Amino acid sequence: MLTPEENELLTRVGPGTPMGLLMRAYWLPALLSTELPEADGKPLRLRLLGEHLLAFRDSDGSVGVIGEHCAHRGASLYYGRNEKCGMRCVYHGWKYDRSGQCVDMPSEPPESTFKDKIKLAGYPPPERSGMVWVYMGPLAEPPALPALEWAMLPRDQSHISKRVQQANWAQVLEGGIDSSHGGFLHSMLDNANMSGKQRRGYMFHQVDTHPRYEIVDTAYGSVIGARRSVEGKYYWRIYQFLMPFYTMIPPYADLALGGHAFVPRDDETTIVWTATWHPARPLQEGVDERHSAPGTHGIHVTDFLPPSPEADGAWFPRASRANDYFLDWAKQKTERMSGIPGVPIQDAAMQESMGAIYDRSNEHLGASDAAIIHVRRRWLRLAKALASGEQPALPGIDCAPAYNVRSAGVMLDTDQPWFEAAQKWLQAEAGVLQESV
Ligand code: FES
Ligand SMILES: [Fe+2]
Repeated sequence: MLTPEENELLTRVGPGTPMGLLMRAYWLPALLSTELPEADGKPLRLRLLGEHLLAFRDSDGSVGVIGEHCAHRGASLYYGRNEKCGMRCVYHGWKYDRSGQCVDMPSEPPESTFKDKIKLAGYPPPERSGMVWVYMGPLAEPPALPALEWAMLPRDQSHISKRVQQANWAQVLEGGIDSSHGGFLHSMLDNANMSGKQRRGYMFHQVDTHPRYEIVDTAYGSVIGARRSVEGKYYWRIYQFLMPFYTMIPPYADLALGGHAFVPRDDETTIVWTATWHPARPLQEGVDERHSAPGTHGIHVTDFLPPSPEADGAWFPRASRANDYFLDWAKQKTERMSGIPGVPIQDAAMQESMGAIYDRSNEHLGASDAAIIHVRRRWLRLAKALASGEQPALPGIDCAPAYNVRSAGVMLDTDQPWFEAAQKWLQAEAGVLQESV
């Protein structure tokens, strides 16, 4: 449990907040490149860390992410003219380049230098392997982009999607490092009825429903081992937590790996980025189930509300509290634990039902919450240091290559040191996937 003050510290990410400062020290995934398909095309509203932003692809094909509202009198640049390497406000014609700098001010006399003093928030972003990233921090020279395997592979080996979830980022992320819910929320009533290569691992979830946790801190975050006793051995499901908001889910057999980035949209909503990737071959529909549709064990949402012009308006799932997340109450009795179709929607239903910002002074944490307790402590230590004006060393900054790791599900003898024994699974080796259980 946290005190109400700690809960505030953990969950608030707007400009000037301690957690907001921490988040702004890191790169944030902002867009899929395909969301801005053409130079001088239609712009997009997006929200990151509570800031109202506008993304556009300029005449040169480069992406800009700038404050949405014109510095003159606040009209939305969403309605602006995307022309000649800038967004021009259609109210009085002020124009901004992709760094947010005002470059033209036709409403002022030609000799005026007023425009030189006007700059919106601007985060001219790089694109890598189909994703647009932004750095919203204070450094003139930002750190290197994190070497996440899923964000660097050829497009046919990595499938990346996003969705908006109506809950605070930490609440959503905590589900991503909580192995014990897999044996319940995401399970069939009897996982022996499952098919596919993940069946054996899924069955182990139900053989031992109370994993013991061991956690090792690394330069970039923490490695979380969840240990289950099965068949006279230990079945280790090993998760990665990478600062500030990435997790990796242990794979099954030789199937694709899965991971998330839980990017704070504002205090009460999160952009859940989801990646499925296979280091050794192109993804195969129907084989890599994590890649596939709702109702399976896939981790991507594919069914969205009709797109709206609001921020991130293409990424609101159709399944929501308003329709009970399509919970089938009959199937809950006969087939699966939750009755809700689809792993990500099962997560969303639980995490949104806690309220947008759960008051953690009401919770009762047990042994199965060890990873959550550990990671929270790490965040809070850093946020408290930032709040008191210190400059703490931030994990993951200045070690971008260290992000090139994986999660794993491995069977080990009971006397084997798990972290050392699992290294060949955990270090990403180009073109090779060590088989999990
Ligand atoms: S409000 Fe944009 S130019 Fe006046
Ligand atoms: Fe989950």
